Amino acid sequence: MILGTGIDIIEIERIEKTIKKWGKDFLEYVFTAEEIAYAQKHKYPAQHFAARFAAKEAVLKAFGKNSHIHWKDIKITNDKHGKPLCIYGNKKFKKKIFISISHTHVYAVASATITS
Ligand SMILES: CC(C)(COP(=O)(O)OP(=O)(O)OC[C@H]1O[C@@H](n2cnc3c(N)ncnc32)[C@H](O)[C@@H]1OP(=O)(O)O)[C@@H](O)C(=O)NCCC(=O)NCCS
Repeated sequence: MILGTGIDIIEIERIEKTIKKWGKDFLEYVFTAEEIAYAQKHKYPAQHFAARFAAKEAVLKAFGKNSHIHWKDIKITNDKHGKPLCIYGNKKFKKKIFISISHTHVYAVASATITS
């Protein structure tokens, strides 16, 4: 059963500028070590950081509330085929979260669906 959906789009340049301004402080506040390593191994890391930022925002929208959820409680990983997976940090959380990501050089977009 679908319990919630969310979508978010972001200008990659906005994330790029934030990373330039705040560096590690911003990255480590928002992203897990695994997310940082994934983005940094690519030619254009900001594209993958922006996509993960959008994915986290989409998950927050799918929840329909954002209180008590920290950025890093929502973990975005990729399976061996590159498909993005979402792990929500709270162990009591038994529902599933499906996400999808796309990006151009200008925008990153992500959608999230929570199911029972
Ligand atoms: C998967 C694929 C369709 C992505 O499309 P694209 O136009 O190259 O790239 P987009 O910008 O739209 O999307 C990129 C995002 O797609 C997602 N993605 C990558 N592989 C994926 C897969 N197998 N299934 C679902 N999503 C995938 C990732 O989240 C990626 O962003 P990220 O690296 O920041 O996590 C493309 O890589 C492709 O056609 N691969 C070859 C065929 C393939 O492996 N198909 C898999 C299904 S059988």
